[in-house]
Amino acid sequence: MTRRLNRRTFVKSSLLAGFGLPLIRTDGRAASTERLSIACVGVGGKGWSDMVETAKSPNVDIVAICDIDETANHLGRAAEMFPKATRYTDWREILDKEKTDAVIVSTPDHMHAPVAFSAMQRGRHVYCQKPLTHTVHEARALASIARESGVVTQMGNQIQAFAEYRSAVQLVHGGAIGKVKEVFSWQAGTPGWRLADDRPAGKDPIPEGVHWDNWLGVAPKRPFKEKIYHAFNWRHWQDFSNGQLGDFGCHILDPVFMSLGLTAPVSVEATAPPMNREVWTSSAQVRYVFPGTERTAGDTINVTWIDGPGHKPVEQLKGVIDADKLPGSGSVLIGEKGSLLIPHVGAPKLLPEETFADAEYPQLERQSHYILWADACRGVGKTNSNFSYAGNLTETILLGTIAIRLPETKLTWDAPSMKLTGHPKAARMLTKKYRKGWEIDGLS
Ligand SMILES: NC(=O)c1ccc[n+]([C@@H]2O[C@H](COP(=O)([O-])OP(=O)(O)OC[C@H]3O[C@@H](n4cnc5c(N)ncnc54)[C@H](O)[C@@H]3O)[C@@H](O)[C@H]2O)c1
Repeated sequence: MTRRLNRRTFVKSSLLAGFGLPLIRTDGRAASTERLSIACVGVGGKGWSDMVETAKSPNVDIVAICDIDETANHLGRAAEMFPKATRYTDWREILDKEKTDAVIVSTPDHMHAPVAFSAMQRGRHVYCQKPLTHTVHEARALASIARESGVVTQMGNQIQAFAEYRSAVQLVHGGAIGKVKEVFSWQAGTPGWRLADDRPAGKDPIPEGVHWDNWLGVAPKRPFKEKIYHAFNWRHWQDFSNGQLGDFGCHILDPVFMSLGLTAPVSVEATAPPMNREVWTSSAQVRYVFPGTERTAGDTINVTWIDGPGHKPVEQLKGVIDADKLPGSGSVLIGEKGSLLIPHVGAPKLLPEETFADAEYPQLERQSHYILWADACRGVGKTNSNFSYAGNLTETILLGTIAIRLPETKLTWDAPSMKLTGHPKAARMLTKKYRKGWEIDGLS
């Protein structure tokens, strides 16, 4: 109880001092350390499992649910599951009216930061889907307000808590492959959301129960088109998503970041087909250089990301692993004493197989990323994908998406000052303008 009260006092002073905002939570109510009340924003799609998995904690109450779509697959289904939860279609109302302890944000990417930042302004703990934000500026702002306010945060890269990724991290930390010299990560699947090469003309009637303006939120206004944006297909469009790297990078690069202790790259460069200002490419290669860490072999380490249908680092990994043994997505860490294959959601494998035939692999139990967060909000344990860690990971992913938009241009990143020195066009892509009427004090 004392912990929460202290946190709120801190939120109050830091908001008044740092962000120039009033303390919105003025009820003085001490949150129970026994139970956690949660509001969920975006309850269809991934938001459904975010909500249901978190509610498996015996200490959690889902008290309010919000979705811009009131129909059966979205708010309707959630309301059936949690009939006592108050229903909303506008997240600004749920944050103002419901004094919950915590908020889960599972909207499309472009709305993560506005909702999560506003929740933290109000002193709420936050679970927010990956990638944490849509722009680098937003990622830095979320990490900053999370740190200042002392709320408990977790980004939704839930695979981090699975035994497979944790084992991979343990193997590297235990020195199984020695210091790491280079990393290749890839996602060779065909994006399920490639729809068109440009924005479709015209408009479709907005279905009953869909609040299109709320779906657009901070994004520039555009007409509703059936099955083009809502639901799921928003991934195709730059205004709402971060493409294939944005979709998978926070999962696949997570054990790379965790095992090597990476923070911010010093440079990034991409090879990608030319693109317009509307849609994402269906393939890309992004080459990052990071400063070396205690777990890497040199002063710097190269991490290469590859995506596109069937695109795998076959040539680059010749002599390390045969092409037919490369999974559809994952990473290979090449170390001084051997290599480690980390399939995306699969058991890690030490290479060469003959050398490591008798190797002992960690035997770990799967944990729940959701329950880890809910427990940490109640003062039990801690989260590993907190916004300090997730902010760095997301910034890295988003710098890669800037490089994809400016192919064959080496971008030099000064992380402390947040500058892409000498690249004014790229620098403008670090942030974006929020739609009039949707600006958020301290964020936009
Ligand atoms: N961690 C994972 O493995 C994983 C998997 C899939 C998706 N995701 C992430 O989850 C998020 C949602 O993706 P999705 O595939 O579920 O998208 P989706 O479009 O299928 O579902 C989004 C849901 O949020 C609702 N919504 C949209 N805008 C909203 C708003 N402003 N306020 C309230 N509700 C809103 C929609 O109506 C829908 O119910 C994305 O950030 C995505 O990257 C993560």
